Amino acid sequence: MLLTTPRLILREMTPEDAPALHAVLGDAETMRWYPRGFTREEVEDWIARQITCYPAGTGLLGITLKGSGTLIGDCGAVWQDVEGVRELEIGYHIHRNHQRHGYATEGARAVRDYAFTALACDHENDHLISMIRPENIPSRRVAEKNGLTLNRTIYWRGYEHCFYRIDRPAQ
Ligand SMILES: CC(C)(COP(=O)(O)OP(=O)(O)OC[C@H]1O[C@@H](n2cnc3c(N)ncnc32)[C@H](O)[C@@H]1OP(=O)(O)O)[C@@H](O)C(=O)NCCC(=O)NCCS
Repeated sequence: MLLTTPRLILREMTPEDAPALHAVLGDAETMRWYPRGFTREEVEDWIARQITCYPAGTGLLGITLKGSGTLIGDCGAVWQDVEGVRELEIGYHIHRNHQRHGYATEGARAVRDYAFTALACDHENDHLISMIRPENIPSRRVAEKNGLTLNRTIYWRGYEHCFYRIDRPAQ
């Protein structure tokens, strides 16, 4: 998987990306909607999990800046178990120094288009979702700018989440 946008290249991550991704996922401020920031070992496990997803066309990709190639975050579609249903969720994390430049929106739109065109459609992935803590306004704005709409509020992994959804466009 390799997705290109005007300013970004989203590419499969490798174990060598751990230091750059740890600068994102290990930052307590960036991860304030999570129980805590990730340790370096947790980031290595995180990348290893994404690598197992890539053959099926899913998993979080590394977001890199065109030109420099600097990895500034991750974004992709990941299967989640939500109230007993398999749901394909778009997720994203951007390094604190690179937030508010529209990068998450740009990456998420590319992932949405990829998922709707490249992944075979069945009853489970005829739509995409994003689950977001209600207070996480930046993430909710990314979901909305990505065309998702608020479907309902759910409890997931012990926290209230806004459940956003977008249906696959009719062919
Ligand atoms: C959510 C996140 C990925 C957004 O990344 P980003 O690249 O800054 O997002 P964008 O620049 O595309 O901005 C999208 C919208 O969010 C808004 N936004 C971004 N940061 C904001 C902030 N701190 N406060 C208020 N609005 C914010 C932008 O203004 C924009 O909305 P607008 O066009 O109406 O102005 C980033 O804040 C992040 O990594 N957060 C921590 C991880 C996280 O919560 N991930 C999602 C888990 S569900």
